[in-house]
Amino acid sequence: MNIILLGPPGAGKGTQARRLVEERNMIQLSTGDMLREAKDSGTEMGERVAKVMAAGQLVTDEIVIGLIEEKLQGDNAGGFIFDGFPRTLPQADALGALLTKYGKSLDVVVEMQVDDEALVNRITGRFTCGNCGEVYHDDTKRPAKDDVCDVCGESDMKRRADDNADALRTRLMEYYKKTSPLIGYYYAKGDLRSINGLGEIEDVAGEIKAALS
Ligand code: AP5
Repeated sequence: MNIILLGPPGAGKGTQARRLVEERNMIQLSTGDMLREAKDSGTEMGERVAKVMAAGQLVTDEIVIGLIEEKLQGDNAGGFIFDGFPRTLPQADALGALLTKYGKSLDVVVEMQVDDEALVNRITGRFTCGNCGEVYHDDTKRPAKDDVCDVCGESDMKRRADDNADALRTRLMEYYKKTSPLIGYYYAKGDLRSINGLGEIEDVAGEIKAALS
């Protein structure tokens, strides 16, 4: 099964994608994670990407489509979870063409609905394990032992450079201008399932499970 998790910054796409990887042996394709890796690579492309991401703007379609195409050529026995991709109409068209090219198809697009106030709280309280990528929150998901990751046991918690009020305003604006038209695009194709992303992490996982069945 190949699915898209669609939603604004902080909607919980990464959190739920990691659960699906565990539970269904799916492969998470997060363009945000891929771009953060590119950013840390020290290449000229990485430097350009770093500036765009820090400001909360979208990276060019050409770059992210290229990153996704590389991954689509790999093994996907349990299916792919597209997390943070597509984010523009040209990216959505490109994904459709790439899936066809590699003999795959899209099954469901899960739209995670969360109001803006909750998004701000989620983003400003987020921290992540620098070793394994597990996502935490100051209020809603703290590790059992302060600063020690529950999953891998490392003490390497990090906060993202773009998780600040200014960049978040731009990220939200980019979402409403460029990404939210995808809701209508996938609705018209008959692929869209909208869920309430405001509940507890467990409850949202249950809604996604229902949307996928
Ligand atoms: P990206 O990394 O994709 O960030 P994003 O879409 O802004 O999404 P986030 O990762 O911020 O949030 P999320 O929905 O995954 O929420 P999470 O699960 O972490 O993109 C970053 C940047 O890269 C972009 O701005 C752009 O520059 C670039 N980029 C990426 N993809 C691109 C593309 N396709 N095209 C162009 N540019 C691209 O949860 C957030 C917090 O909330 C966590 O602390 C979590 O613990 C908590 N939480 C989660 N669920 C719940 C819940 N149900 N209740 C309470 N708390 C919860």
